[in-house]
Amino acid sequence: MEAFVIEGPTRLSGQVTVSGSKNAALPMLFAAILFKDEIKFTNVPRLWDVQTTLKILEEMGCQTQWDKDTGTVSILSSIKSPKAPYELVRQMRASILTLGPLLARCGEAEVSLPGGCAIGARPVNYHLEAMKKMGVDVRVDEGYVRAKVNTFQSSEYVFPQVSVTGTENVMCLAAAISEKTVLQNAAAEPEVVALGEMLVQAGANIEGLGTSTLEIRGSSNLKLENPVAIIADRIEAGTWIAASMITRSPLVIDQCDASHLDTVLSIFRSMGAAIEVSSDLTRLTVSPADSYQPIEIETQPYPGFATDMQAQLMTVACLAEGRSKITESIFENRFMHVAELQRLGASIEVTDRTAYVNGPVQFKGAPLMATDLRASASLVLAGLAATGTTKVSRIYHLDRGYQRLDEKLTALGARVKRISD
Ligand code: EPZ
Repeated sequence: MEAFVIEGPTRLSGQVTVSGSKNAALPMLFAAILFKDEIKFTNVPRLWDVQTTLKILEEMGCQTQWDKDTGTVSILSSIKSPKAPYELVRQMRASILTLGPLLARCGEAEVSLPGGCAIGARPVNYHLEAMKKMGVDVRVDEGYVRAKVNTFQSSEYVFPQVSVTGTENVMCLAAAISEKTVLQNAAAEPEVVALGEMLVQAGANIEGLGTSTLEIRGSSNLKLENPVAIIADRIEAGTWIAASMITRSPLVIDQCDASHLDTVLSIFRSMGAAIEVSSDLTRLTVSPADSYQPIEIETQPYPGFATDMQAQLMTVACLAEGRSKITESIFENRFMHVAELQRLGASIEVTDRTAYVNGPVQFKGAPLMATDLRASASLVLAGLAATGTTKVSRIYHLDRGYQRLDEKLTALGARVKRISD
């Protein structure tokens, strides 16, 4: 296993480039299963999860190429076996996103249930309920989803909770059938919209992208002429704003898409950061403040405050003058970073799904354990501001979702060393 050793306090300086979005890339790469011709992608981030995705596609019989330097991926999906085995699915829950495309392409699929992860049980019942209404026979046994298409039918499904990959999985299947599929309480995340736009370009008719109601009439002859560009990672961009605020360093953040950051920008501005947005929305210039205001926030589906930004916000809140209140409404166990931040000296109490953060504190370096992707990023940022040495173990969580964060931080002047632990 590897760890980061961070010397603090460190000021950052310069500009950082945001990579392609992990949560846009994964569903779009799996959606290549829908196409008989080769599909090309650009701006694909260099992540473990992308590696795992390509491995799963190859297991099924697809041919894949990945030029990590240019960030281009091409996939020729010839499916030999519509199966996603447990050994691979357990490495990455998003593999459930093979289900919709495999059913569209092969009429059947056998996909391991992803199982839970650190932040929650992560069930996929909404995915399966929606597909059943579309005419798919779905059975779950021995930890596998075994699904077979009967006769597709027009359907309407109301998601009991907004589900990002639930919307994506069902949208992929619906995009390939002529029957009409209506999804209510659908996810409106930019990553869902990007996938929808790719399917529209390929010939599907999707009304309502970016709203909570999708009306989809698909086509059995989806075709894509041009390469698909992966959108910028809004969570990485938000993480860099937090980094600037935590280390009190002015920072320029390039190749982002500020149109996906409205709530994040208003929250961090209300805490005291000055953030200038370039006219083409791709560059943020962040100037931190000497003191920050506390905040009251609840994580929500897009366009609300993203759960994937909750840990980073909490780290900033530790430095605010007063008591902040952060409620995690999306996942049942997404406060593992609290205990780790407390080891750095944070003053946080948790009741149910709400954390009360008292600040300001001066972090003091300590050995920490990363628990999930976004939490580990917030621990690294805290380590940058802490006096002394902070070691963050199990940083494989980070490598899953952030492209070489240590290299980007070092280029900004941070003292971060990757060691084997
Ligand atoms: C996606 O996960 C993201 N992952 C997550 O990012 C993100 O935190 C999450 O959406 C919320 O924005 C990818 O896009 C690959 P959900 P997903 O289905 O789709 C419940 C990261 O760090 N639910 O929107 O799995 C579920 O338990 C990751 O990059 C059901 O009960 O999340 C949760 O409470 C972490 N049954 C809520 O809905 C279902 O069938 C939202 O989950 C589906 C979901």
